[in-house]
Amino acid sequence: MRILVTGGCGYIGSTTARLLAKSDHEVMVVDDLSEGHRQAWPGALEIFDLRDASAVQSFAAANPVDGIVHFAARAYVGESVAQPLRYWRANLVPVLNLCEAFPGTPFVFSSSCATYGQPTTARLDESLPLAPLNPYGATKAAAERLLQDRADAGQGAFVALRYFNAAGAAAGGHHGEHHQPENHLIPRAVMAALGRLAEGLQVFGTDWNTPDGTNIRDYVHVADLAEAHVLALDYLFDDQPSTVLNLGTGRGYSVLEIIRAVEEATSQAVPWTAAPRRAGDPAELVADATRAFEMLGWQAEHSALEHIVQSAVVWHRKNPQGYSA
Ligand code: WQD
Repeated sequence: MRILVTGGCGYIGSTTARLLAKSDHEVMVVDDLSEGHRQAWPGALEIFDLRDASAVQSFAAANPVDGIVHFAARAYVGESVAQPLRYWRANLVPVLNLCEAFPGTPFVFSSSCATYGQPTTARLDESLPLAPLNPYGATKAAAERLLQDRADAGQGAFVALRYFNAAGAAAGGHHGEHHQPENHLIPRAVMAALGRLAEGLQVFGTDWNTPDGTNIRDYVHVADLAEAHVLALDYLFDDQPSTVLNLGTGRGYSVLEIIRAVEEATSQAVPWTAAPRRAGDPAELVADATRAFEMLGWQAEHSALEHIVQSAVVWHRKNPQGYSA
């Protein structure tokens, strides 16, 4: 099948594009390279801004596709609080442009656990009402609603995949996470352990209502996320109904537990200091991912914390400058 992967030069997008290509799909990546890296995806690439409706229409007219996997978005909780309008334009307009340019085309959407906000239950399942705490989560929830309205009108089916915390790198360290700046916990903890974070790691709040006072998240290996997207496309190609699925492990780890795991994997101390809570952060987000198993046969098989952290350490050791070397 001919698959359009937007944001395919990004972390999860490039991992998925590579897996699709290995699964004998014809993959066309669109990326504006504002965040992504050309080295992350060695295949066919069109560089343009998905917020530009006429550019999307022109691309669609010349490139019929069988399915769309849409990753392109801004995805930093803290940044979205400071720049909400930038997030609304970056995360919603491209979805509308793609749906208008590719009517009826099956659509796999990169959504987020941030759509839930801070629920009262320990495990988050897809039946929970959405109450995002930050603009990032709100844009993802809005895009899901756009896709649901499109599907209800019979104008195209979708699967929205609500990632929990993507982490880890490809085995062998040839492909991994490289954001500029890097805001995510695991890469920052690894960089701190390797002496590449001058100020050390800041722990955003040690007074949360959790066993050790630090935030809890459900970390899922990027390879597991990529596999879920391939399964979601197959599900749609099999004319299955639109749905929303959590992608997580069902096991949460606190910031301090992550720090200890990184210290174990690097045999180095992670220098850290307590810092104020970060705006938009919920205390705990852990998936109930049983529905993804029921609907897709998916479960996280590469997401043991030791493997996630070890694969990230190998990537950072081998690529101190990320892709820009
Ligand atoms: C994890 C925890 C921070 C950095 C991410 C993505 C988002 C979404 C969910 C897909 C938080 C704490 C972090 C640091 C810290 N994924 N932290 N010091 O915010 O949970 O969201 O996963 O949609 O796209 O951004 O991930 O790694 O930034 O933070 O204490 O220097 O680590 O407070 O509790 P987050 P994160």
